Amino acid sequence: MDSSKKTLDLKLTLPLPVVGGPYQNGITDPQWPTDSPEGFSHDDYQDYRGRVSRQNVLAVVQIDVNASSRAELCEVMRNLSNFAYDEMEKGPSRNNLRELDGVPDSYRVTVTIGLGESLFVSADGQDRFGISWKKPTGLSRMPRFVGDASGFDPESHESDLIVVIASDHPYVNIAITRSLAHGYVDKRLSVVRVEQGFSRPDKREFLRFDDGIENLRNLDQTKELDRHIYVDKHSEEPPWCVGGSYLVYRKIREDVRKWEQLKEQQQERAIGRKKATGEPLSAATEEDGLTPIYDHSENSPTPHTAHIRKVQPRRTGQDFMGHEDLSRRFLRRPYPFAEGIDANGNLSVGLHFLAFMKSIQHQFEWVVRLWQTNPDFPEPGIGIDALYAHEIISTVGGGYYFCPPARREPADFIASALFQEKEDYHG
Ligand code: HEM
Repeated sequence: MDSSKKTLDLKLTLPLPVVGGPYQNGITDPQWPTDSPEGFSHDDYQDYRGRVSRQNVLAVVQIDVNASSRAELCEVMRNLSNFAYDEMEKGPSRNNLRELDGVPDSYRVTVTIGLGESLFVSADGQDRFGISWKKPTGLSRMPRFVGDASGFDPESHESDLIVVIASDHPYVNIAITRSLAHGYVDKRLSVVRVEQGFSRPDKREFLRFDDGIENLRNLDQTKELDRHIYVDKHSEEPPWCVGGSYLVYRKIREDVRKWEQLKEQQQERAIGRKKATGEPLSAATEEDGLTPIYDHSENSPTPHTAHIRKVQPRRTGQDFMGHEDLSRRFLRRPYPFAEGIDANGNLSVGLHFLAFMKSIQHQFEWVVRLWQTNPDFPEPGIGIDALYAHEIISTVGGGYYFCPPARREPADFIASALFQEKEDYHG
């Protein structure tokens, strides 16, 4: 980013979530409009156009369901869905305020509901609620990956449901979480884990690099968000899944002490971008000055093991499966976390990595297994992603989920298709 850019006197009005669209809120919204608002030139607004605007605070609530029949599960889902929409629709409370306390018109609340595989099939293979025939094809238990913390067992972290809450006020998130945890929404919901995170407007996280320079956006021509995130009728999925999205959630610890022992240049070579400006170490496209153009020489300024190159090598043409590298992108909505000090006296900090996509297998798993943690990609013996090689990051939690499409009308509820006998295209 050009740090010499003049400071604008104008202030952008934050985009609001769109309650009532075909997709669940909090996946690709709030989203900045593609047109520059009045007073902003094309260039000044370029960084925002068609991008998701993260809210200030995050809560990730993992929940098991103690329902004893399909009919009960149906009630639970209806109650949960109604609660989510009520929370998104109601404005900020003005109770108990002093005369001059200002409250914004909206805390931009989104409540996104995802279903885990265990809702469909229990660990011992039981069809718990008679809905296993509706299970989204790509939904599975999250496996272990290279770089997972030694004590992390993904099975013990899975849950029937996930509720991702994002808003601009920490208390709003806590109030919603409390209603879920204390049975006010439905007594059959049993909250098993609550995680919290926050975002910074400059998108820097604890490695002090800007995380979110390259991310999908809905520019007029490409509509990347719509194309890469939502299941469509060409996906090999049950028809009810159309308009839904997969969520990969990984809680990733960062060893900041180890990171800070690296020299700035080593850190930049591990990420593939300059720390101060976010510019790539390699040449960049003229269009935005931030998208790298990699060369294949041994002395390439961006090592092949740099994080951004390992997770998106940006090769031209198609791979051996007939797919372009860029087709494997997904939307990242990362939120840093800080939760005190661990047994070794190190700050426990890291990133809640939340990624939404059309297919876990085509996107996330391909990127991680075949590129990022494959020591022989793109050439034999190259090594794995430098963030893992230096043991800076390790995954300590998470799970795979499927976020169904939004409800179709107020009388409908999220995941209602699970309880219909007839298969039906949604939306
Ligand atoms: C704590 C863990 C992580 C940190 C601190 C981190 C940090 C970063 C940073 C600083 C960038 C460069 C800025 C940008 O282009 O947005 C980046 C890009 C990216 N990261 Fe990560 N990341 C982490 C985990 C992951 C994981 C687990 C994945 C999954 C494969 C991932 C996928 C990506 C992708 C796809 C890009 C964009 C690459 C491109 O298109 O050029 N990151 N990350």
